[in-house]
Amino acid sequence: MLREPEPRDRTAFIELLASPEVHAYLGGPGPRDEIEREMPEMPERWPGSFVVDLDGAMIGQILLRRATGHSRPAAAGKADLGYMFLPRAWGLGYGVEACTAALGWLEDTLPGEPVVLTTQSANAGSMRLAAKLGFTEVERFEAWGAEQWLGIRSPATPSR
Ligand SMILES: CC(C)(COP(=O)(O)OP(=O)(O)OC[C@H]1O[C@@H](n2cnc3c(N)ncnc32)[C@H](O)[C@@H]1OP(=O)(O)O)[C@@H](O)C(=O)NCCC(=O)NCCS
Repeated sequence: MLREPEPRDRTAFIELLASPEVHAYLGGPGPRDEIEREMPEMPERWPGSFVVDLDGAMIGQILLRRATGHSRPAAAGKADLGYMFLPRAWGLGYGVEACTAALGWLEDTLPGEPVVLTTQSANAGSMRLAAKLGFTEVERFEAWGAEQWLGIRSPATPSR
């Protein structure tokens, strides 16, 4: 289930942000004590920020945001998809299921909106997920000390 973040998700958010496995292709995790100190009791809520809930507990996060500050012209200003799941939930199909639902929400909210996604090309799980969601390559570029993959997903054009 996709839902808004709630105060009871605090521990899962800390786990997600402090996990070395989750951040293996995201520049490494931040220091746990700092994350714990700075994590608000009441999480910020805005349209496009989803908690992925499995049987009443948070297993991941999906973010759909405007890529206003994106360094690549092809992505600047477009809707941008990001996703992170706790390792215990990996490889079970939740990534595809939850991201498909979030993209469906965007299509209902802003019909016809293209979506971009940036991931390290070495991140095999994320690359596979992007392909399964229908993202296709725009370009590869070097940033943050690694090769990055920029993909785009255009909404299906109605068949005539
Ligand atoms: C990337 C991530 C979101 C994938 O989520 P997931 O729930 O494991 O994805 P799914 O189970 O829906 O799998 C999607 C596809 O990717 C494949 N896959 C998942 N992890 C994989 C891995 N490590 N290596 C190769 N393929 C992988 C699955 O087999 C599946 O493909 P298939 O149906 O052809 O077999 C998850 O691993 C994660 O949160 N990683 C850490 C955060 C991160 O790197 N986010 C991306 C930031 S840009």
